[in-house]
Amino acid sequence: MESSMMKGAHIIATGSALPKKCISNYDLSKVVDTSDEWIYTRTGIKERRLISEDQCIIDLAYQASQKALDNAKINPQTLDLIVLATSSQNDLFGSASQLQAKIGATNAVAFDITAACSGFIIGLITANQFIQTGSYKKILIVGADILSQWVDWSDRNTCILFGDGAGAVILQASKTNFILGFQLDTNGLEANKLCISYQQESVQSYHNNTLGIKQGQYSYIKMNGKEVYKFAVSKVPESIKKCLIQLQLSIDDISWLILHQANQRILDTIAEKLCIPSDKVISNLQCYGNTSAASIPIVLDEANQKGYLKNNDIIIIAGFGAGLTWGTLIIKWYT
Ligand code: COA
Repeated sequence: MESSMMKGAHIIATGSALPKKCISNYDLSKVVDTSDEWIYTRTGIKERRLISEDQCIIDLAYQASQKALDNAKINPQTLDLIVLATSSQNDLFGSASQLQAKIGATNAVAFDITAACSGFIIGLITANQFIQTGSYKKILIVGADILSQWVDWSDRNTCILFGDGAGAVILQASKTNFILGFQLDTNGLEANKLCISYQQESVQSYHNNTLGIKQGQYSYIKMNGKEVYKFAVSKVPESIKKCLIQLQLSIDDISWLILHQANQRILDTIAEKLCIPSDKVISNLQCYGNTSAASIPIVLDEANQKGYLKNNDIIIIAGFGAGLTWGTLIIKWYT
């Protein structure tokens, strides 16, 4: 995980996109037995944005990418690589190539990373490896998810949490390295705590006895909320601490804590465990809910556009979710 002595990188621009349709907790209470009070006190969420029928994930990913490209003032043809972190792609073979075509990044290689709410951080760390080896110089990393397509809207345990969105950053090679270090972990033994699994046996499954073929379909999001909660508040602080120790940084060196936006109580507990004051924790959960791979780049873009992030600020970014996967990336801001 050492990133010193190698080629440097920094984030030169950010962008994000959210669907227009806004669904409040009150709207949801008309669909499932819940209330604004229950949702807000348990999660900090007030409303979320959901994709409309005529939009697809590539539309959102495109808008976020285009904003990042405009902010960076770079021609898409100068991109070497596009990493699309998504778990709700519109093509199981990968959707990144559709994004590549839509933004006209004809010289870029493009591939997907499927790691749900950790997808963006894994994507950013992966992209950084290509820069550190000297293979690529300009990379677009996009986190986009439309989990509204995979939520069981009759399940009040899950449907209240998720929203749709996309966020993007452009990572560029530089002489000085601003991507200071990272820490990634996976615990596949607990994969069933949060999943959208393929099921052989389903209402519409296809059987062919002559060929010995059975085809099923994907189910809705299944989650053990309590277990996922416990996982996040125990593993994420550990991961952040490990990363800080490796970099010989202390909590006092930290300017901002940007966590995957899953639940305000999770954010508060992680910050408390790390003794990071709440004014350094950036949150937009109230407006968008959990947008999976998109949550970190959206909140990063908003903080950037609002002018919160100053050059040389040290930022902890941490993601966690299905897999179970979790990880920390510590960067120095420089645009
Ligand atoms: N509205 C009203 N009541 C609800 C409800 C809803 N939307 N969802 C669950 N309840 C009920 C339960 O049925 C339960 O009722 P009971 O006591 O009669 O059985 C009660 O509220 C408490 O449910 P519980 O599951 O214990 O609530 P909780 O305090 O654990 O909060 C979550 C539930 C989902 C908000 C919480 O566990 C959580 O946020 N977990 C992490 C999920 C997450 O972030 N996932 C994504 C990670 S990337």
